[in-house]
Amino acid sequence: MNFIPINKPVIGEREKKAALAVLESGILTDASYAGGKHVQDFERKLAAETGAKHAIAVNSGTASLQISLMAYNVKAGDEVLLPAFTFEATANVVIACSAKPVFVDVQSDYTIDPRDIKRKMTSRTKAIIPVHLYGYPTDLDEIKEIAAASSVRVIEDAAESLGAEYKGMTIGRTKDAACFSLYATKVITSGEGGAITTDDDEMADRLRMMRNHGMREGYDTRILGYNFRMPEMQAAIASVQMDRLSELIAARRKNATTLNERVSKLPGVSMRQTKTDRSHIWYLYTIHLPKDRDAVNERLRAKGVGSAVYWKTPVNKMELYANMGYADLDLPVVYDACDHVLSLPVHPLVTEEEITYIADQLKSALTDR
Ligand SMILES: Cc1ncc(COP(=O)(O)O)c(C=O)c1O
Repeated sequence: MNFIPINKPVIGEREKKAALAVLESGILTDASYAGGKHVQDFERKLAAETGAKHAIAVNSGTASLQISLMAYNVKAGDEVLLPAFTFEATANVVIACSAKPVFVDVQSDYTIDPRDIKRKMTSRTKAIIPVHLYGYPTDLDEIKEIAAASSVRVIEDAAESLGAEYKGMTIGRTKDAACFSLYATKVITSGEGGAITTDDDEMADRLRMMRNHGMREGYDTRILGYNFRMPEMQAAIASVQMDRLSELIAARRKNATTLNERVSKLPGVSMRQTKTDRSHIWYLYTIHLPKDRDAVNERLRAKGVGSAVYWKTPVNKMELYANMGYADLDLPVVYDACDHVLSLPVHPLVTEEEITYIADQLKSALTDR
């Protein structure tokens, strides 16, 4: 059995043709306000998929988060609430805006805890960044209610959750902002890439300018912006991948369901992302192991199963943040998650035979100790 990676891009003939056609066209990028043909195609498809009025493509998920904070004028003196159990980008963009990250605990399903949000809101809170983690939506209603009461923005980090639904609504339909990543391992990819969706016309206008040096008509910088443009080749690949989104999610769901049937009842194993009012797209299938997580992970990897831990260290304990004094925060559920989560491969290229193998190997790893 070949090594089964935790995630792998699914690139077919259509993606290859689309990329080549851009190279042959000689139009590799477009620095206009609206962006190039392929950028616009991708944006139209993303808006249709999410039901959002606007989609704005950028060149990474990180850029999508940073530009959203910038568009809301988040700056020095402002506080931004976010879970400490996330990828560093969610916090780094707050620092990039010179604002203060305020780390919030999570719930047992690893999503931000609305009760802790309430405790940590102050008059300086400008935005909340809930993370739809592993492909599973966070408690949006509760978060939006808290935010609305204080006129605080909700910038959803949906980097891992394109296509997921919350109470029947696709993630991305929002009056504020939802941010997506098209990094190589994500549900759909363009190698690197990102996008923001919003229903707010003014926000969309600011985002389009900010991805392009704050220009609207060319060489007329009106507000601060950067070069966050998505190149045409990436957009052409992303556009083909958007057409395949439901097929790719269906394959993940099939694998996750089969794996779940085989492993969720093993002694000591639990699956925490189980709320039934939302649909998971299984960017990561993650189990909770009360003991020996690292030994099980090592053993699985030695047997060719690319299990992985996202994340062993919470963001507040990373060197940068520890040096800023965040290491000793009281975030018990975050620390518990860091010690016990383990993700198993369910991406679309994992075969049924491999799912059986992964389940069998997990069973042996748990019982042989
Ligand atoms: C939760 C989360 N937020 C933000 C990002 C940043 O996205 P990117 O790598 O496209 O910059 C990622 C993915 O890498 C992520 O998983």
